[in-house]
Amino acid sequence: MKEAENKLAAYRALVEQGLTRLGWSEARPSGLYRPMEYFLALGGKRLRPVLCLMACDTTGQDPGTALPQAIALELFHNFTLLHDDIMDQSPLRRGQATVHLRYDVNAAILSGDALMIEAYRHMVACKDTLLPAVLSEFNRVALQVCQGQQLDMEFQDRLVVSLDEYREMIGLKTAVLLGSSLKIGALVGGAKEDDAQKMFRFGYLTGLAFQVQDDWLDVFGDPARFGKQVAGDIKACKHSFLRVMAHREAGPAEQEELEQGFARIQALRANPQEADAEHALDAAVQGLIATYQKLGIEAKAIAFKDSLMEEARLVLGTSPLGQGPKAAVLMDYANYLANRKE
Ligand code: IPE
Ligand code: IPE
Ligand code: MG
Ligand code: MG
Ligand code: MG
Repeated sequence: MKEAENKLAAYRALVEQGLTRLGWSEARPSGLYRPMEYFLALGGKRLRPVLCLMACDTTGQDPGTALPQAIALELFHNFTLLHDDIMDQSPLRRGQATVHLRYDVNAAILSGDALMIEAYRHMVACKDTLLPAVLSEFNRVALQVCQGQQLDMEFQDRLVVSLDEYREMIGLKTAVLLGSSLKIGALVGGAKEDDAQKMFRFGYLTGLAFQVQDDWLDVFGDPARFGKQVAGDIKACKHSFLRVMAHREAGPAEQEELEQGFARIQALRANPQEADAEHALDAAVQGLIATYQKLGIEAKAIAFKDSLMEEARLVLGTSPLGQGPKAAVLMDYANYLANRKE
């Protein structure tokens, strides 16, 4: 176990070194690069680059071979967050002001674009023979993230979203990038397409559990550790796992509570000048949380994540890593992601 922890620390150190070497402090115009530096310096778990290095390591290659791609994945992820925080009107990220509030919306748009372009620049820094496979994987996933984000936005205006629709949406907005982080690391390490695809599937299933946990933390996380606005998903009328499951579990009385609660929040969003709007919003949010609790949604989230992680474990078992020590390291990290508190 100690060895696994040391490896994880080594991957993280490699990623931080790679990010430090980006050298944007002198880059001009500073209005473009300052927000990028600000945001990357806030930290984050760096899990996508870690997954990429881990997967490269499993092939027997030096994990550092995939460092450019690992950095690319982190830059791409940070680009999605800059734009996501505008779209979700989120005030807080990693415990600090979001870029569109710290700077302004235009800065968050353009610095986000620049992060995405920088991501591509790093992604293509691999052996010529690997480039077609790596680039086609990254292109596919980058577009899928946009598709998922669009579904997430469209769902905000709906009353009910099915569990299948929710699963598709989080698969696209979140899980494919975790899957691809592993797949790209494996490809760069020289893995066969079939084996790299198993890595993708393992990461994809973990990514679904990771997003369910994110939805859970939105309401029940410790704000100091989670670093995001409490109940931001409820305030934005998102169809999070909690809301989707609550609709499935609700009897007529709870159905009424859910509909009225979200209708009230929508009305307050449309008319924020309403007298005592802040207090009314808090009351509506608390009412919805009470309904979630009454319906036992936490147990549903745990069961859903457990079944995803069991499927992930089975997929990993069919890969060349089998039940070996490298599989155990991956499985441990995946379980941490599915149960994270930050
Ligand atoms: C946040 O991702 C966006 C989601 C997909 C839920 P992370 O939780 O990986 O964010 P950081 O990079 O650690 O801040
Ligand atoms: C994250 O979804 C998906 C992407 C950023 C692509 P969320 O909107 O749930 O992420 P957080 O909660 O803002 O990190
Ligand atoms: Mg968001
Ligand atoms: Mg979002
Ligand atoms: Mg979230």
